[in-house]
Amino acid sequence: MNHRSNSHLCLFVLVAASAIFLGNAQVPFPGKCPEVKIVESFDAEAYMGLWYEYAKYPFVFEFGQKCTTATYSIVDANTVSVFNAGINEISGEPKNITGEAKVIGPGQLAVAFYPGQPLTEANYLVLATDYKTYSVVYNCIEFSPLLNSKFAWILTREREPSAKTIEAAKKILEENKVSLSYLVDTTQNECSQS
Ligand SMILES: *[C@@H]1O[C@H](CO)[C@@H](O)[C@H](O)[C@H]1NC(C)=O
Repeated sequence: MNHRSNSHLCLFVLVAASAIFLGNAQVPFPGKCPEVKIVESFDAEAYMGLWYEYAKYPFVFEFGQKCTTATYSIVDANTVSVFNAGINEISGEPKNITGEAKVIGPGQLAVAFYPGQPLTEANYLVLATDYKTYSVVYNCIEFSPLLNSKFAWILTREREPSAKTIEAAKKILEENKVSLSYLVDTTQNECSQS
């Protein structure tokens, strides 16, 4: 085994280990990031406002969290403020985090929650949205040609969306060959906020 594939193996072990320790914070997959279809045009203004997280591929900030919401507001022509909130499933304590996003292409946003985090690379890809009922968001990080990690979210305008809305969103994931089997529904009941 040469040095290169050795470091790939190390990386894989590291990612797999963190996935286990962080409660499957990310879903590691073999190979490169597959091609996905992103919206061709994006109306940032229509996208603003409150979204409920219906389901997601597990993500570290949201682990053990219910009633998760994302609220987007326009700051200027291509800057969006991001406010994510939820309730700790165990303690019942509310939790929130504020971030910033840059719209860097149609349906391609760079979202950052930590100071100094660069806002140059899209990490929030809108595969499809009708602005009024659902949005399907995706990201894939390629660690090497042998390993990638995928993130996916179904966001909905209603806390309890219709079956038709969810069907439409899941269809988008399927069309992009994003497996539905890693999607975990977010608990959206017994939320003290309205
Ligand atoms: C966000 O969380 C902080 C402390 O964790 C809290 O003081 C603040 O009220 C929360 N903001 C909202 C809008 O819920």
